This record gives sequence, structure tokens and C-alpha cells, in this order.
Amino acid sequence: MKRAIITGITGQDGSYLAEFLLSRGYEVHGMVRRSSTENFERIGHLRSRVHLHQADLLDQLSIIEFLRDVRPREVYNLAAQSFVPTSWVQPVLTGEFTALGVTRMLEGIRLVDRKIRFYQASSSEMFGRVQETPQTERTPFWPRSPYGVAKVYGHWITVNYRESYDLFACSGILFNHESPRRGKEFVTRKISHAVASIKRGLQKELRLGNLDARRDWGYAGDYVRAMWLMLQQEKPDDFVVATGEDHTVREFCRIAFDHVGLDWRKFVKVDRKFFRPAEVNLLRGNPAKARRKLGWKREVTFEKLVRMMVDADLERLS
Ligand code: NAP
Ligand code: GDD
Repeated sequence: MKRAIITGITGQDGSYLAEFLLSRGYEVHGMVRRSSTENFERIGHLRSRVHLHQADLLDQLSIIEFLRDVRPREVYNLAAQSFVPTSWVQPVLTGEFTALGVTRMLEGIRLVDRKIRFYQASSSEMFGRVQETPQTERTPFWPRSPYGVAKVYGHWITVNYRESYDLFACSGILFNHESPRRGKEFVTRKISHAVASIKRGLQKELRLGNLDARRDWGYAGDYVRAMWLMLQQEKPDDFVVATGEDHTVREFCRIAFDHVGLDWRKFVKVDRKFFRPAEVNLLRGNPAKARRKLGWKREVTFEKLVRMMVDADLERLS
């Protein structure tokens, strides 16, 4: 039986990846950090089918012990401080989790078993002030947040361990991907949740920041398949995973409010509080390499994703 470790199993992607690997017959082991209250909402339905272990990206020994106990074939490193605005408030901690945490995972693999295949969750946020559009695996990085800077470190240390120690280490440069399990502070879920609350009479308005920001938004369930495909190839490599389309925050609002028969302009208020010290105005990826080498393509369109998220929040509130 194939055995895999997922760090960040309690997060959005971790929960979809766990489902996906279980459906492929994997034994799934997740890393969870200790907290005074359990935070297993997204994996509640999988609890009896996955093995959870306490360890932390900040604690090297806990990672080594975890790898020694499980001896996995594949490790998916999804854990990170992933919310961009928090990275300005906690830049050092973000660097510890999101940058050095990757080195700790790679060091663990180097010490325990160099045959383990490693996936690093890199991000389109690394492109920041984009140097070309669409962005590819060869587009230079220009990160615009402490989070983006930390992810650039995580990307290059993954490449470096591949080159230094011949590890099977891949970096997936994933563009924004969303779902009904997205955290409520991210803009898509903030919108879908507000639309459902307004429709149900529980909220009066929605305060947002930059409505002109453009993102290449896909569905998380499609993107975890690409992670797995990367680790099934003959050689380790880096891949952009994206839809190739971009849309504004404004467009997301319009489709989400339209879906419940409301006019977004009556409810959305712009609030400077949500503007960022340095913004990433436009992200649009070119997934040609992933399509060609992995045979990957997205299944869920942008409109379908927006409607799926609004429907799920309506259902939750009913
Ligand atoms: P998420 O929902 O915020 O999940 C983050 C996960 O990391 C949670 O399980 C969290 O655990 C865990 N974690 C944080 N700090 C940790 C630590 N010190 N030790 C152990 N676990 C820790 O993020 P996501 O959207 O699923 O994204 C998964 C990964 O892909 C992240 O690395 C993110 O930066 C990257 N990424 C995401 C996107 C996207 O659009 N979603 C795009 C590109 C890259 P708790 O539950 O305990 O907080
Ligand atoms: N969060 C948030 N809240 N964003 C807003 C708001 C708001 O009220 N109003 C406008 N935005 C704009 C942000 O300024 C940004 O340009 C865009 O909406 C998307 O913001 P987020 O949903 O917070 O995502 P992100 O693009 O910053 O980061 C996500 O995608 C990255 C991949 O590019 C995260 O998932 C990262 O972890 C991931 O790496």
C-alpha cells in the first residue's frame, strides 16, 4: 500500500488531497499541530480513515520522528501561514513557517530516507509585480509580501535540495484555488459567505478592499490532482497550475450576487482598511507545461466555482 504524509491536512487543500489519496488506495498520515481546541472541521468526515500525528513545522525533531514513524513514499508539504495580510503583521513567524519550515521538511527527508518523493506548495504570489503575462515556470519572481518572499525561499530550497542531494523534490506553482472549504478571510469565501448571509437577512453590507485586483481562480479539488500527478512522473520538476483566465474581484461579486438575484452595487462598500501595503494587481498563469507533461486540466469553470461556493454557504446558513 502506498503511504503518504500531508502537512497542513486540516487546511483547505489538505482536506481535498486526503480525500483524493484515500480514493487512490493510499494510507494517509497527516501532521497536526497542538492546539487547545481541535480544529478538524474540514477533515471531520475523514477522521476514521486518516492517521493524525502531532508535529510542527517549527520543530525539527518532531518532523524527523514523524518521518521515521511513518516512512512514507510521498510527502506533500502544504502547511504554511498562508494568509497574505497576516504576513505583514507577523513577518518573522511567516518566514519561520512558510520558508524555513520547508528546509526542516527537506532536512528530515535527507536524514530519514532520500527516496521519499516531496511536493512543495509554491505559489503564484511569488510573481508579485509580474514581469510578463501569462506567467510560466520561467517567469522571474518579484514577490510583494513577506508571504511571497517566504514562498520564493521555499521554492528555491526545494530546487536546491533536488540539485544538491538528488531528492525527488517538486515545486507546484499554484495559482489561487478556492472551494466551499476556503477560509472565510480570503476574498472569494468572504464574498460567498456575505452573499448567503445577506440573502438570509443576517448581514446588511459587504466591505472589501481592491475590487480591481485580478486573479486566476480555479477549484481546489482540481488542483490537488495536479500535486499528485507531479509525484508520479519519472523525473522531479516544477509546474505552473492555473486556468489561464483572470477575473477581477468585482466580477466575482457580480456573479455571486446575481446568482441569488441581488445587485452587488447595492451591498458592496470599498473600505481602505482592506487595501494592502503592496498589492499584486494581476495574476494569470500559463498551464501549458502541466497540460503537456502531466495531462492535467481544470474541470470546474470560474462561473461554476462562484456558484458552488454561494450555494454551499446558503446551505450552511439554512
Ligand atoms: P490553509 O487552508 O491556510 O491551510 C494551512 C495549513 O497549514 C493548516 O492545516 C494549518 O494548520 C497548517 N499549519 C500552519 N502552520 C503550521 C505549523 N507551524 N505546523 C504545522 N502545520 C501548520 O491553506 P491552503 O489554502 O490549504 O493552502 C495549502 C498550501 O498551499 C499553503 O502552503 C499555501 O500557502 C499554498 N498555496 C495556496 C494557494 C491557494 O490559493 N489556496 C495557492 C498557492 C499556494 P491549522 O489548521 O492548525 O492552522
Ligand atoms: N482577503 C481579502 N479581503 N482580499 C481582498 C479584499 C478583502 O476584503 N478585497 C479585495 N481583495 C483582494 C486582495 O487585495 C487581493 O488582490 C485579492 O483580493 C485576493 O486576495 P486573497 O483572497 O486574500 O488571496 P491572495 O491572492 O492574496 O492569496 C491567495 O492566493 C495565493 C496564490 O496566488 C492565498 O491562498 C495564498 O496562500 C496563495 O499563495
